[in-house]
Amino acid sequence: MDKIVITGNKPLHGSIEVSGMKNAAVAIVFGTILAEDKCTIGNIPMISDISDAFDILTAVGAKIKRLDKTTYEIDTTNYTPCSAPYELVRKMRASYYILGAELGRFGRARAAYPGGCDIGARPIDQHIKGFKALGAEVDPPSSNSGGNINVTTEDGCLYGDSVYMDVVSVGATINIILAACRAKGTTVIESAAREPHVVDLANFLNACGANISGAGTDVIKIRGVEKLHGVHYDIIPDMIEAGTYMMAAAATKGDLTITNVIPKHLDAVTAKLQEMGVTVEEYDDAVRVSSVGCRIKGTYVKTAPYPGFPTDMNPQIGVLMSIAEGESVIREGVWDNRFKYVDELIRMGACIKNDTKSATFTGVSKLFGAPVSACDLRAGAAFIIAGLAAEGVTTIDNIQHIQRGYEDIVGKLRNVGACIELQNVPDDANVLSSKI
Ligand code: EPZ
Repeated sequence: MDKIVITGNKPLHGSIEVSGMKNAAVAIVFGTILAEDKCTIGNIPMISDISDAFDILTAVGAKIKRLDKTTYEIDTTNYTPCSAPYELVRKMRASYYILGAELGRFGRARAAYPGGCDIGARPIDQHIKGFKALGAEVDPPSSNSGGNINVTTEDGCLYGDSVYMDVVSVGATINIILAACRAKGTTVIESAAREPHVVDLANFLNACGANISGAGTDVIKIRGVEKLHGVHYDIIPDMIEAGTYMMAAAATKGDLTITNVIPKHLDAVTAKLQEMGVTVEEYDDAVRVSSVGCRIKGTYVKTAPYPGFPTDMNPQIGVLMSIAEGESVIREGVWDNRFKYVDELIRMGACIKNDTKSATFTGVSKLFGAPVSACDLRAGAAFIIAGLAAEGVTTIDNIQHIQRGYEDIVGKLRNVGACIELQNVPDDANVLSSKI
């Protein structure tokens, strides 16, 4: 079993380059289904969620060619709808974008119920509400659809309409945009998600010939067009990866420049770090974070849809709060089980009390290395930060969670002074060591 092993208490110094945004890349990769043509997509992160998405597309007829380290040609000219392999689709969350894309192109769709991080209930009622508003029929979950979601239309067409989202949902907003691109008439999504990855998808689709306006606001209008075409498009940088490295710089009392970022996307993270006494300087496409000699003070965070403080930064700022002076509180406003990371941090010496919706941190002077287990993507990243800051050695297992969303995190951190490595520890070695 692969583990990440860290010897902590070493300040990070230097520069780290951020990769393309995972949650934009997965949406755009599945969005190429609508182009029915060759698309060249750049700044794609090399992470397992992307390789899983490529496996799914290849299985249904797409041709994918790597042009350079982060650029791929995706040709979806030949594509068989309603045939995405069940076991591949259920491996990840974003595979449900197949539904919106197939519906938008073929007027019918099928995909397995998606997987994804276990951070609470992950319903898809808002996606279904959107598809139905456009005239589609969706098999009720109770039907014997063999674990698949089947979506059909009477005449193979979708018809634009208004959809008011009961919950701000990134996935549902993206799926409805995908389905509405080639619908007859105009669709208006109200109370839409405003995340940068929603904007990136809309920009990609508009470059392919779609007619989408308002992305980035809570009202998005999609005027249906007949056809889309291939395009070259570069994915935006990953704001959560950037935020993760910002927290690592602060927690290790380091001085790190994080490049290939859009500082505006990081406003909420920057504001909170500055509240905690950390120095953050913004440049055109970089941020510099330094906490050398700083007294890091506790603060209050409420996670919320963009532009609020990102829920995907909850575990990472939780580590910084664990070693900040005084008391801090995180109220989780998006997911109902995002604090699964707390128990592992307590194992490292943190002092935290939590329920499912909030956690109170009483800062300690230091954390101590320990064996911990990643329970989801962002918790796994947080344990890396904790290990970098802690005294002693931390080993992290279940690192497949981390590899879903962070390209070469071990290599990037080694380049800025971290004592971190990927170790293959045979399972029986654990048993032997525990018996000696
Ligand atoms: C996306 O998940 C991200 N994943 C998540 O990031 C992120 O935490 C989340 O957005 C919120 O920003 C991807 O983009 C692949 P939602 P998604 O639909 O789309 C409720 C990471 O770490 N809801 O915005 O699944 C839902 O229960 C991952 O990169 C409904 O009630 O999230 C939640 O409370 C983890 N009905 C809230 O909305 C629905 O039909 C937000 O969910 C859909 C969602």
